[in-house]
Amino acid sequence: MSGFHQRVFSGMQPTSTLHLGNYLGALTNWVAMQDTHECIYCVVDMHAITMWQDPADLKRAIREVTAAYIAAGVDPKRSIIFNQSQVHGHAELAWVFNCVARLGWLNRMTQFKEKAGKDRENASVGLYAYPNLMAADILLYKATHVPVGEDQKQHLELTRDIAQKFNNDFGAQIAERGLGTGELGFFPLPEPMIQGPAPRVMSLRDGTKKMSKSDASDYSRINLTDDAEAIAQKIRKAKTDPEALPSEEKGLEGRPEAENLVGIYAGLSGASKDAVLKQFGGSQFSGFKAALVDLAVEKLAPIAGEMRRLLADPKHIDDILGAGADRADAIAAPIMREVKDIVGFVRSR
Ligand code: TYM
Repeated sequence: MSGFHQRVFSGMQPTSTLHLGNYLGALTNWVAMQDTHECIYCVVDMHAITMWQDPADLKRAIREVTAAYIAAGVDPKRSIIFNQSQVHGHAELAWVFNCVARLGWLNRMTQFKEKAGKDRENASVGLYAYPNLMAADILLYKATHVPVGEDQKQHLELTRDIAQKFNNDFGAQIAERGLGTGELGFFPLPEPMIQGPAPRVMSLRDGTKKMSKSDASDYSRINLTDDAEAIAQKIRKAKTDPEALPSEEKGLEGRPEAENLVGIYAGLSGASKDAVLKQFGGSQFSGFKAALVDLAVEKLAPIAGEMRRLLADPKHIDDILGAGADRADAIAAPIMREVKDIVGFVRSR
């Protein structure tokens, strides 16, 4: 995508402790992208309250997620780290997008259907409008690349649809003011970056279900705060099948638990699934799991330790979020001013 300044934006909800899916699906890619891009990483606290959050728990979770970003390798000097509610452009642009997006578009969102469940009438309006706020997060910075796990793909398609409709609906105003980037319009159509060998980490108890914070069983996921003992126990108890590991990737077809564990090994070691299978093809799960325990403990236990260290000083974390919010706002405010002018709002002070 030429024309737009290359900029990365992504975020996570501070709804409970982050897990291995968040880490391998997103966070490891965020860390890597710092070497090549200007990066903005957000703790999306406004998204969190689309479902009930105890206020004291929410504050704790915002700081914990911030600590997880930093402990995993996001550098608050190089990248912008902040919480969404401290930059008011997110709410403002989300409102404009509530008026750009169509009901029919939101009705197709599978995540709303899953989260609202059977009792749709009782879901918050915020949960329904959630994807519009997510589009606002990204486009408020004219971000061009969005590293996420596979489950966010549909939301990113909606983001592109919203950007395109805004560019079309206000094409004349954008052109008149010279605010378009070439033929591309005012907003870029951001690229989803769904990368690595584990874009969709599955439950350790059921290889057909996504690893998620909401699963009732703590054995279904590895939390970034788990200590070495907990990590080891969860991997030892992880569901497998009776066959030995295949030596090629296509041998994983129809074996969701095996595929998941191999993906996790690959993600943690920075290798491809193929390379992992070259090494372990023919092994029984007992041997493979022992190697996976060692690798997971080696990679994850230091993150938990660093998070504990950071969380002992909440003031330091709040300072990082505050400085990040100032930097984020410096990018967002001029873009938001242009949006308001394009839409036709009067600014008289
Ligand atoms: P959230 O908070 O549910 O998840 C944060 C990130 O973790 C990824 N992820 C996974 N990846 C692989 N396997 C899994 N089992 C797994 N579970 C979660 C998610 O794909 C995501 O990348 N709507 C977003 C937050 C958001 C956002 C944004 C993201 C708000 N605004 C703007 C990008 C850009 C969400 O709820 O992610």
